[in-house]
Amino acid sequence: VKAADDRRSRLLPAILLAVVASGFPACGNDAPGVRVVGEDGLDLPLRAASAEERTEFFAGDAAFGLPFRAPDGLGPLYIRTNCESCHEEGVRGPGTVQKMALVSPDGVTPAPDQSALPYGHTVRPLMTGAATTPLTPPASGWPAGTELKVTIRMPPSVLGRGYLEAIDATEIERLEHEQATRTDGIRGRINRVTYQSEANPDRSFHQYQPGQPGLVGRFGLKARIATLDEFAADAFQGDMGVTSPLRPTELANPQGLVDDGKQGIDVDIDTLNLVARYMRYIEIPTRNPAAATTQARAAFDQAGCGTCHVPSLRTRDDYPISYLAGIDAPVYSDLLLHDMGSEFADGLEDGGALSSEWRTAPLIGLRFQRNYLHDGRAKTVAEAIALHGGPGSQAADSAARFAALPDADRADLIAFVESL
Ligand code: HEC
Ligand code: HEC
Repeated sequence: VKAADDRRSRLLPAILLAVVASGFPACGNDAPGVRVVGEDGLDLPLRAASAEERTEFFAGDAAFGLPFRAPDGLGPLYIRTNCESCHEEGVRGPGTVQKMALVSPDGVTPAPDQSALPYGHTVRPLMTGAATTPLTPPASGWPAGTELKVTIRMPPSVLGRGYLEAIDATEIERLEHEQATRTDGIRGRINRVTYQSEANPDRSFHQYQPGQPGLVGRFGLKARIATLDEFAADAFQGDMGVTSPLRPTELANPQGLVDDGKQGIDVDIDTLNLVARYMRYIEIPTRNPAAATTQARAAFDQAGCGTCHVPSLRTRDDYPISYLAGIDAPVYSDLLLHDMGSEFADGLEDGGALSSEWRTAPLIGLRFQRNYLHDGRAKTVAEAIALHGGPGSQAADSAARFAALPDADRADLIAFVESL
């Protein structure tokens, strides 16, 4: 939901209080006489959300849309000034992130020596305050025999992300085991990740400690983070240069700057947790039942899409948002990493993911996207499916089976996927 007006202030907590106090409608979009919030109603709160949860949702949404400025702690280096600029109304774009990596001449294998990129793999082109040197792809200076690979990451939508967080880890492990016995080359695996933040004082969603290993990665294009609060902290820090109690330090940068226009930690824990709650409370957009015909579902099965894009997964019984607990979450993903072949390689290893491994994209709200796949290289769903068939891709057989379907079945399948 876009903020009703451009709320700017140095005092973020005060804004949030004002937003809560200004009484965003605490009743459902389906309640009679209540205006649907947001022009096209994309990021709406969970249908079952209570009045209190809706209030949190709208306060979190306001923080998600709030543009930061230098006095609010933006920078010293940053990519965009607010979450919305890359996840507009919870969906994808318009902002993107550029990544850079040194790779061997095959364009796939990360080069052993990445020392020419001492400040990491993310391009951070914009600056505040004392910063005068942005982080951009170097023009030269890497070892002979290696190449600099610059790639784009499109922001995934954040719709329905509470459902993804709620999925029982044992479900994802079950799928990993089942796929390990397949003979058709589909072999997804869990990205086991380490919790890389300070502990969250709000212990209701998890009690992870700094450095805790072995978590099931779920979020990010390579499933590199386990929870939504940690992702929010990572995004504030990495995309906006905004520090929080979970990620209290500014990232390394060429000038060695350790602070910005706001001394110390830039957002408080309540703001961070509100943003995480907003994402937990976003509903999966209503799907068009007319597209889910028997033929369309049969074609989806026949082409083997559902092996990776698993239609639904069970959530854990003790997930703190009660109506997301113990349900079948219709996420169309196994949350596993799959090798999508050399044409998908970006030279980066997020956590345990390899250069050409990607998380099965959840098929949620696809009709609101204008491009598909991690870098937006596909302009239509049909093109996205065809590109699953590249050399070395685990989904090659599925893409071939799709191509072999009768025209009518292909059209039904695409209409179905676009309705999800
Ligand atoms: C400059 C663009 C940009 C900004 C600003 C940005 N994001 Fe993102 N977001 C991305 C990209 C790109 C990814 C994929 C990152 C990856 O694969 O590691 C992503 C991924 C995510 C995900 C994971 C979704 C999933 O399906 O796994 C969440 C959650 C998220 N962002 C939340 C936020 C929040 C909260 C903010 C603001 C604090 C924010 N983002 C700001 C670009 C952005
Ligand atoms: C081996 C597992 C696997 C199979 C089988 C598979 N996919 Fe995918 N799919 C993926 C992965 C992994 C991604 C993410 C790739 C990326 O981000 O570049 C993806 C991405 C997509 C996307 C893009 C979504 C977005 O948000 O950009 C669509 C659409 C899609 N798949 C549809 C299908 C359909 C339809 C089928 C059956 C014909 C299918 N897939 C079969 C693993 C699979």
